[in-house]
Amino acid sequence: MRTPFFLSFLILLLGLISTHAKNHNAPRKELVRTSCAHASYPAICLRTLSSYSGVVTNLSDLAKAGVKVSLSRSKAASNFLAQLKSQSKKEQGAVRDCLELIGNSMDELSQTLSELQKLQSGDFRWHMSNVETWVSAALSNDNTCLDGFKEVEGYIRSDVKRKITNVARVTSNALYLIDLVDHSHGKTADISTGHN
Ligand SMILES: *[C@@H]1O[C@H](CO)[C@@H](O)[C@H](O)[C@H]1NC(C)=O
Repeated sequence: MRTPFFLSFLILLLGLISTHAKNHNAPRKELVRTSCAHASYPAICLRTLSSYSGVVTNLSDLAKAGVKVSLSRSKAASNFLAQLKSQSKKEQGAVRDCLELIGNSMDELSQTLSELQKLQSGDFRWHMSNVETWVSAALSNDNTCLDGFKEVEGYIRSDVKRKITNVARVTSNALYLIDLVDHSHGKTADISTGHN
C-alpha cells in the first residue's frame, strides 16, 4: 500500500524541522566547545554549559550563563550543607562558616550578573573591573570554605568536599569566561548573524 500523501508530507516536514534545529544549534555548540577548550576545568565547562537551557548567542551570553550555573550550584551546595547532620563539633564549625561564605559568594555572583548586564551600556572598563572583582571574591569565598574543611580532615564527609570543590570549579570557569569576554572586547563574533 502506498504511504498516504499527508503522511509522507509530515515525515518530510519533521525531517526539515529537525535539520533546521540541528543547524540552529551548531554555532552554539561550537561557541561552547571553543570557549571551554582552555577553561580551568574544560570538561565541567562543556558539561554544564552544553546543558544550559537559556539563550546563548555570543560569548557575553555564555559568560552570563557560566555565572548563573555557578549561582545555582552554590545554592544547591548551600541547601545541602544546611540540612547536613554534622558528625563532630569541628565539622559543625566548618559547615557553619562555609554556609556563611557560600552565602557571601552567592551575593557576589548576583552582583557579578548585574554588572555583566551593564557592560554594553557604556564604560566597559569600569563595569568589567567590577565584574572581575565580584567574581574573584566569590571564588575566594568558595576556596576559603574548602580550606576550612581541610582542618577537619578525617571527620568531614567526602560528599561535602566534592560538592564545594565542584562549586569552586564552576566559579573558576565563570571567571575564565569573563576574562575571555574582556580580552575579546571589540572583536566579539555574534553567532546569531555570523557577522563580526
Ligand atoms: C549577545 O547576544 C544578546 C542576545 O542573546 C544581545 O542582547 C547582546 O547584545 C549580545 N552581546 C554582544 C556583546 O554582542
